[in-house]
Amino acid sequence: MVKAVVLGAAGGIGQPLSLLLKTNPEITALGLFDIVNTPGVAADLSHIATPAIVEGRLPPNDGLKATLTGADIVVIPAGVPRKPGVTNHDLFKINAGIVKDLATGIANFAPKAFVLVISNPVNSTVPIVAEVFKKHGVFDPKRLFGVTTLDVVRASTFVAEINGAPTSAPSVVVPVIGGHSGVTIVPLLSQSSHPLPSSVSTEALAALVKRIQFGGDEVVKAKDGAGSATLSMAYAGAEFAGKVIRALKGEKGIVAPSFVAQAADPEGAKALAAELGAELEFFASNIELGKEGVVKIHSLGKITEGESLLVKAAVPELQTNIKTGVTYVLEKY
Ligand code: NAI
Repeated sequence: MVKAVVLGAAGGIGQPLSLLLKTNPEITALGLFDIVNTPGVAADLSHIATPAIVEGRLPPNDGLKATLTGADIVVIPAGVPRKPGVTNHDLFKINAGIVKDLATGIANFAPKAFVLVISNPVNSTVPIVAEVFKKHGVFDPKRLFGVTTLDVVRASTFVAEINGAPTSAPSVVVPVIGGHSGVTIVPLLSQSSHPLPSSVSTEALAALVKRIQFGGDEVVKAKDGAGSATLSMAYAGAEFAGKVIRALKGEKGIVAPSFVAQAADPEGAKALAAELGAELEFFASNIELGKEGVVKIHSLGKITEGESLLVKAAVPELQTNIKTGVTYVLEKY
């Protein structure tokens, strides 16, 4: 029996994500919470003949409490997306408050659940959740994940295109490390399961890195004011949630990148910090998943000089982003 919960389930990401989770045969209960429209979304999804029993709740009458009670996995896509005219600062202020409130709910009603944070900016919202959990004495670093899977999914797709084999995208594996915005996104293309042809120029390689780092901008521009990536994000969120659920059910050896607290595996984190030349409280890298969450934080392994420069550029930005999240909570309590 697995109960999955989506907080922000009526939104652009929340609805297709809830649909994909409803089609996951491992999920037996699906709790949907949002400040609007969840009864309708739940009624619609409940007609699909898959195992999950769906319930949709709103804030009145302890809706958050009822949704979270018994949850094994909680996915959070609640919050405002990027839109032209909305500054990153405005976005942070709104989403930080939403994530802080929802994290408080999880700390109270589902403190043992695996928590997957999609709400941006992930580099700061994950530290917010961690700090809220610490305040409530329920922080388990092994159970908190920033979802960076969309960067991984984009890397697979774009590498397959450049390799002239777009249909191979599902089998292309590229570790994407660092964080989840702009220059903090570091694709390790040298470790791609499907190496790029040696004919790819340095300029083309740099353009590919940039496209993976700023892939979200392509979607924001194409949607022309109507929001950011929702469908590809829903796919990525369901993909990562599916892996967490498989690990929870006992499958071993599942490895995927995620932005996690380095306290989840102090030994692995130490080796990683030595490679990075810096100690960070949170970092995205390949992690092994198990029944209790993070089993092992993997080291980077062999990377190129160019990738090493990308890591150097990512570290200070990440440090700032993490501090922003931590400070936000410390000032609010
Ligand atoms: P949206 O505006 O379509 O949906 C957000 C939903 O959150 C709405 O239904 C809204 O009612 C709900 N919500 C707001 N406050 C809430 C609260 N206190 N409790 C419960 N629900 C609440 O936005 P969209 O496009 O679905 O994006 C959601 C978030 O995901 C944004 O922060 C966006 O930046 C982020 N995102 C993250 C990505 C990633 O790779 N991690 C990729 C794309 C977007």
